[in-house]
Amino acid sequence: MTDEELLEAARAVKEKAYCPYSDFHVGAALEDENGNVYLGCNVENAAYPQGSCAEAGAISAMVAAGGKHIVTIAIVGGSGDGTRACTPCGGCRQRIHEFSDENTRIIVKDDDDSWHTYTMDDLLPSSFHL
Ligand code: THU
Repeated sequence: MTDEELLEAARAVKEKAYCPYSDFHVGAALEDENGNVYLGCNVENAAYPQGSCAEAGAISAMVAAGGKHIVTIAIVGGSGDGTRACTPCGGCRQRIHEFSDENTRIIVKDDDDSWHTYTMDDLLPSSFHL
């Protein structure tokens, strides 16, 4: 998939987000080592800490389907129909890191039609791993 296609997939699944508490919708689309694409959106809960991030959903779907490695992950966030740059939260940086290497690309849609591409080292330098 092209970056544009992956961003469009993330934008589309963002519309499915369940986020009545924050009204901040997030969609994530990732491509694994086999070219398969997995989607996730944030799912909030009345007991706030039980909510989950879009990236976590996409990663779970990849693992459940047998995928092992994130080649590219695109993230789109924002209120309602709008988009606002949404770099992954700290916990999701560590989640993405688990299935990444130095070539993994993290694409984040900006406030406008452009996007930024990061590496894992940009987002989580000196990261923890076993
Ligand atoms: N959120 C994500 O889904 N991914 C992130 O990386 C940042 C935050 C969600 C969690 C919550 O439902 C909403 O955005 C506001 O924090």
